[in-house]
Amino acid sequence: MADIEGADIERAGRDGRTPKRRVAVLISGGGSNLQALLDAAAAPDYPAEIALVVSNVAGVHGLDRAAKAGVPTVTLPHRDFDDRAAFEAAIAENLASNAIDLICLAGFMRILTADFVRAWEGRMLNIHPSLLPAFKGRDVQARALAAGVKISGCTVHLVTADLDDGPIVAQAAVPVAADDTVASLSARILAEEHRLYPRALAWLAAGALKVADGQVQLTGAVTSSERLQSPGI
Ligand code: GRF
Repeated sequence: MADIEGADIERAGRDGRTPKRRVAVLISGGGSNLQALLDAAAAPDYPAEIALVVSNVAGVHGLDRAAKAGVPTVTLPHRDFDDRAAFEAAIAENLASNAIDLICLAGFMRILTADFVRAWEGRMLNIHPSLLPAFKGRDVQARALAAGVKISGCTVHLVTADLDDGPIVAQAAVPVAADDTVASLSARILAEEHRLYPRALAWLAAGALKVADGQVQLTGAVTSSERLQSPGI
């Protein structure tokens, strides 16, 4: 079988024979990554559709973005629930009633329990604004600047029970300038996030992504260079 290029994978839904995977995007804020996914999914040949947006924070801009795109939204403020299990049960109920196949975490600021993560093993992606495994957790850009790193970036990975720790799907590297601030570095990274996340989701949705020995393998179709963006480096 001839290898097909990654770009072909991103077009995999085009023939109309392959049903698009139904994706829920979980957010807590502005949702610029959600917007990038919505924009990519608007293409008829993209192999996934954004079918649901879940926010744990009311009134965030990401909810407006979803509504504008005609995507159903649900707001589940975590404080309204007795505990984490009840909160996640409500999420799970909405995922089930919307026949969701895949989840993208996009600035979702709640840690999910191991039980929830296990139920979605291999079907849930996250984007993180560092070159993992460096700088897991919060305040990432400030910590990167304080450490004096010369290169930073972002990572799309499959979600596992350990925070920011799952198998890496793709990364983008950006230079760190001597006069960078948290804001300027975040903006440079965010621009790459918006290019990287739709690509990674396309690979997952097209079934091109497998995990073996804790490492992501892209089934012969995507070249290793497509898994690393490095503009300006
Ligand atoms: C992004 O930097 C993402 O990597 C991190 O949270 C931020 C979300 O930004 N997980 P947005 O809401 O998508 O604009």
